[in-house]
Amino acid sequence: MFKIMVSDSLPTDILEKYNQTEGIEVVNKIGISMDDLKNEIADYDALVIRSRTKVKADILTAATNLKVIGRAGAGVDNVDTEEATKRGIIVMNTPGGNTMAATEHTIAMMLAGLRNIAPANASMLQGKWDRKTYIGNEIYQKTIGIVGLGKIGQEVAKRLASFDAKILGYDPIITSETAARLGVKLVDLNELLEQSDIVTIHAPKMPETIDMINAENLKLCKDGVMFVNCARGGIINEPAIMEALDNGKVGLACIDVFSSEPPADFKLAQHPKVLATPHLGASTEEAQTKVADQILEQIIEYAQKNVARNAVNFVSVDEEIQEFIAPFFKLAEKMGTVFNQIKPGRLKEISVRYYGNVLDVPVEPITSYLLVGALKSDNDVANINPVNAMTIAREGGVSLEIAKKDTPLTVHRNAIACDFITENGTIHLAGSFVGLNIFHLIEYGDFKLSAELSDQLLIIENNNVPGIIGKVGTLLGEVNVNISQMSSGRDGDEKMALNVFNVRGNISSDTLNNLEKINGINKVLLAKIDGIQG
Ligand code: NAD
Ligand code: MLT
Repeated sequence: MFKIMVSDSLPTDILEKYNQTEGIEVVNKIGISMDDLKNEIADYDALVIRSRTKVKADILTAATNLKVIGRAGAGVDNVDTEEATKRGIIVMNTPGGNTMAATEHTIAMMLAGLRNIAPANASMLQGKWDRKTYIGNEIYQKTIGIVGLGKIGQEVAKRLASFDAKILGYDPIITSETAARLGVKLVDLNELLEQSDIVTIHAPKMPETIDMINAENLKLCKDGVMFVNCARGGIINEPAIMEALDNGKVGLACIDVFSSEPPADFKLAQHPKVLATPHLGASTEEAQTKVADQILEQIIEYAQKNVARNAVNFVSVDEEIQEFIAPFFKLAEKMGTVFNQIKPGRLKEISVRYYGNVLDVPVEPITSYLLVGALKSDNDVANINPVNAMTIAREGGVSLEIAKKDTPLTVHRNAIACDFITENGTIHLAGSFVGLNIFHLIEYGDFKLSAELSDQLLIIENNNVPGIIGKVGTLLGEVNVNISQMSSGRDGDEKMALNVFNVRGNISSDTLNNLEKINGINKVLLAKIDGIQG
């Protein structure tokens, strides 16, 4: 049973719907305390959160069976993603699921702030008819600066365009063509702050964006500028904006998000020039249904098919590519596994080349599988898997060189060739596959061969003289080891031969020693492939 805990508020009918899935248990623990979460998380394979649950190192340490953290929403700043990656835990979100909700909340805040809707309503509730105090301002022909032109920033831009506003944008990634299509002029952050009447924030919270708006650059703004923040608290430095509200530099701030939630004190939320909401950007029925559906679907897809859609700490591969790439994953892991068992020393570097229709395919995840095979017996304590393999390799000082070749490797359309460089020499292996499930070792050092990567490989390097295969067969027969297949290769000048036997049965170290004593045999190696399903 794959157990999913849901710790933050999501529609319970959606949780019940997915709880009907065979092999899946969705457990409603909405509102669980962090202490209880820590005590119970070891029983779960997956955790679904919104922004309330902070998945920090202490929770991850307790989460000994956790495979995936699903954020029903966009921002993953409440997850220690680096630590999760080290532990081999996938972190995924639901990009786009609440874009419209956050967009509409932004526009609602902007209009409500400009037209004093909240204070005017409060005065009406007190039985007052005050038309003078609540004179507002218009969006029409104002300059509006959008910081972060991703999904939400772009939708906000589209809606602001219909108000005939002049729109400026700042985003380090977006192209000026995309911006132009939206009617947005791209500028740098300082220019945006200098020229805007209204600034709205839609960037993610990360080290680079914390305090992005601060005491220093607030000075650049027009007097009386308005800020809207429906992204994350802390992107605008809170003490700095409080001071700017007090001294009139900032005329109005519409704030949905706070650096700690709920805020440690409500001074900013209660400031007379602030319109505040308690992180309601994504809180529409439509968005909550969508993100809950989306995250549970993604997690179940991961549990059933090993597809990590929308993973933020692993290259996600969509379903169409997954089908094509899956045999590469298996081949890579099998090749890594062979190397792992025959390696002459500690691994220092891997130089890998991918051949075939791989130009448009992300090959990093294939390399992760290669690393799993190559490192796993050394790293059992690290619970090595494709999510953490790159990190573990990097931290262990293994360097990687990856290349893609849009050509076959000799006659093999889809192939992987790899030099495993160790402290005591290099092992060169190449492998290929036929269909989805038949994998072959096609190069070993200078030898070309076609040895199926199945069962156990008994790799024998010998002088190219007659009689060796017979002697090996006799010796293996005596110890009850069955040969299921055999492949031979010669080196360039035909002096040496390589024989690879697929064998079934227990091969002891005594048997290996006895094989090595056969006249003409130089080296005997054994690599078990069982366990990686073809
Ligand atoms: P997105 O990933 O589509 O867009 C983020 C954009 O920010 C990207 O284009 C990126 O290039 C840009 N960016 C990155 N670093 C930047 C920087 N230093 N300066 C300016 N721009 C930068 O994400 P999205 O779906 O548009 O959501 C944006 C953020 O809004 C999320 O990260 C989340 O924290 C927040 N959010 C809040 C709510 C809410 O309830 N209030 C709801 C949804 C999203
Ligand atoms: C998000 O980042 O998607 C929002 O914070 C949504 C939420 O409230 O969960």
